[in-house]
Amino acid sequence: MAKADASKLDWNNLGFAYMDLPFRFLATWKDGKWSDGELTEDNTLHISEASTILHYGQGAFEGLKAYRTPEDKIQLFRPDQNAKRFHNSCERLLMPAFPEDKFVEAVKKVVKANADFVPPYGTGGTLYIRPLMIGVGDQIGVSPAPEYLFTVFAQPVGAYFKGGMTPMNFTTSQYDRAAHKGTGEAKVGGNYAASLLPHQNASQKGFADCVYLDPVEHRKIEEAGAANFFGITKDDVFVTPKSPSILPSVTKYSLLWLAEHRLGLGTEQGDVYIDQLDRFKEAGACGTAAVIAPIGGIEHNGDLHVFYSETEVGPVTQKLYDELTGIQFGTVEAPENWVQQVD
Ligand code: PLP
Ligand code: COI
Repeated sequence: MAKADASKLDWNNLGFAYMDLPFRFLATWKDGKWSDGELTEDNTLHISEASTILHYGQGAFEGLKAYRTPEDKIQLFRPDQNAKRFHNSCERLLMPAFPEDKFVEAVKKVVKANADFVPPYGTGGTLYIRPLMIGVGDQIGVSPAPEYLFTVFAQPVGAYFKGGMTPMNFTTSQYDRAAHKGTGEAKVGGNYAASLLPHQNASQKGFADCVYLDPVEHRKIEEAGAANFFGITKDDVFVTPKSPSILPSVTKYSLLWLAEHRLGLGTEQGDVYIDQLDRFKEAGACGTAAVIAPIGGIEHNGDLHVFYSETEVGPVTQKLYDELTGIQFGTVEAPENWVQQVD
């Protein structure tokens, strides 16, 4: 694949696709310690055929974004939260912690080195950053790998869901994404491998993605394949599911705070029963890649439950989106420590 050329990109129509940018960060764990790590130009990894990532899925990743402000500065949104979640994911798979401050430092190095690829302010584009740790080395037994790689690469992206901030319909899945005491809370590859077939089924039926129900009884909403769920009740409470098998979304926790402190809504993390959707006047899916994807309706057992509208964004969802993206792009005052400059 040819290296990406920033001068040839159509910033207004980026989509969500891999590009081979000039630089990525790579560090190795060997003999019980991490190397300092460095920026490299090669986008390929040369690893043992016996690497635990290949057979047993011993790997964790993150997703965060860099934003260009109207003043042409570049900033990150809550990278410390991604560092912390990455730490938890690695711990769950018995991988060595990568120090959280070094994680943020590596992210900043990669953004700086690829600064030409941070889309201009006003295009809606951002630089999506993908930190990743994998178990490598010569070992066939089911036990933690003898060596690890930590890498951070990036690519400019637009909307994750086609249509971005226009309502889309979702359908419930018969499958589970993760078990309650499984790895749902960790950002690990196996959860996403498990989601490929349900996503394909949903997409073949014309839905943006599926909504998973709780793996115990299939009665409560968990989350979508790549985003958490929220609903706005008729009496203005921002409600989002609480479950041990969903990914603790940085965006979701940010919206919970903004809903309460900036929009004056009530907030609740609790059960969201699939047969009680008419408590909500609006609903959405939220995440780093998805930002806020307004949910037009959810299909369940052949019935489509429409929230606000299948074509128009509800006013509360719009306000949440404006507040969140305003903070991310630096046009709305950020709560303390939510943004970090990359300079
Ligand atoms: N849920 C899943 C399964 C995800 O992959 C993501 C994306 O990271 C999210 C939720 C949203 O999390 P965040 O807001 O931290 O990006
Ligand atoms: C993210 O929002 O960062 C995600 O990880 C979603 C998806 C691209 C896996």
